[in-house]
Amino acid sequence: MMMNGELAGFTIPRLGMGTMALAIEGRPDRDTAIRTIHAGLDAGVRYLDTAWSYYLPSEPGTGTAKDLGYGEKLVRDALASWDGPRDEVLVATKTGYRRTMEVPAFVAPVSDSPESDTQGRDSEGCSRRPGGERQHLQAAGSQYGWMADSRPETMIRDAKESALHLGVDTLDLLYSHGPDPEVAYEDQVGALKQLLDEGVIRYAGISRVDNAQIDIAREILGDKLIAVQNQFSPSHPDPEHTMEHCAELGLAFVCWSPLGGFLDAFDQRAYDPFREVAGNHGCSYQRVVLAWELSRYERLFTIPSARNPQEINDSFAATELTLTQDELAMLNASVDARRG
Ligand SMILES: NC(=O)c1ccc[n+]([C@@H]2O[C@H](COP(=O)([O-])OP(=O)(O)OC[C@H]3O[C@@H](n4cnc5c(N)ncnc54)[C@H](OP(=O)(O)O)[C@@H]3O)[C@@H](O)[C@H]2O)c1
Repeated sequence: MMMNGELAGFTIPRLGMGTMALAIEGRPDRDTAIRTIHAGLDAGVRYLDTAWSYYLPSEPGTGTAKDLGYGEKLVRDALASWDGPRDEVLVATKTGYRRTMEVPAFVAPVSDSPESDTQGRDSEGCSRRPGGERQHLQAAGSQYGWMADSRPETMIRDAKESALHLGVDTLDLLYSHGPDPEVAYEDQVGALKQLLDEGVIRYAGISRVDNAQIDIAREILGDKLIAVQNQFSPSHPDPEHTMEHCAELGLAFVCWSPLGGFLDAFDQRAYDPFREVAGNHGCSYQRVVLAWELSRYERLFTIPSARNPQEINDSFAATELTLTQDELAMLNASVDARRG
């Protein structure tokens, strides 16, 4: 299987590293976080995924100046202190979300949201409420919440801050983090277009989107839209078939929470077939999940988080794991049965 892929002008392994778990609730100390990123890079990771919103507010509100940029500065510092080829590493970030400690007393559940749990939350703790007000919602098991703020002026300002946090003149790849019910999707994508036109970013991506939103972004951004970052894993198998739409359009599909995510509970039974195959290979089931994901689409990138060097080493070895045709057929059937 082709383990390398093209993204934003880089030819890199299709297994990258999400750095969210190193920057938000449950994060390890900074030294461990930097050692974890170094371990990933040493193993061969060449795509680091971060976001403007990967930080924690230190007091009620959305954070003080010293809180902001924690995750992006971590990536910058890890790259600066790494003794490998920095130029080979694609750093992607996202704009349009922030963290919050302001939690409303009551949030109505959304039972029909495909990505949400029984309390209407998804794995970044956001909720989509019919009626569409901007959400402030507590993440599962956490005192912190997330809120979308994708007003064009906010996105543009935050993207410029991301470049400062990351210590670069131009961002390689910037995603809009997710739709904001208070902002027309065209306007949100328009902010990415302005950032491209101003040379703040080289390429654009979009995240947490359905096929109609992919079409809107494609129309506005043309071939500067290169990637869609959506949730995909055995427990969240892309019921809206956005991966197929990316394949039709030739876009990269980047899976977020490829191991089910680390904040919220998910259906562990979805991973039983992967545990069985892992038994055949004498490896972790997480490695089998990642190898299987890479087999789904030749332009798929998967970006597992890790909170220590062992986990990212174990995960990156998925690029060396060959699953048999029978194993792939069994795993595909088990997941496709869940997605309908
Ligand atoms: N675009 C979006 O809206 C969005 C949303 C969510 C995530 N993301 C991106 O996706 C990335 C990954 O998602 P995620 O952080 O939600 O979770 P994930 O990658 O699905 O799960 C990661 C968790 O699985 C465990 N793990 C990782 N590798 C392992 C291994 N080899 N063996 C055993 N356990 C392993 C770790 O948990 P423990 O530390 O507890 O062991 C880790 O925190 C994020 O870093 C972020 O970049 C984007």
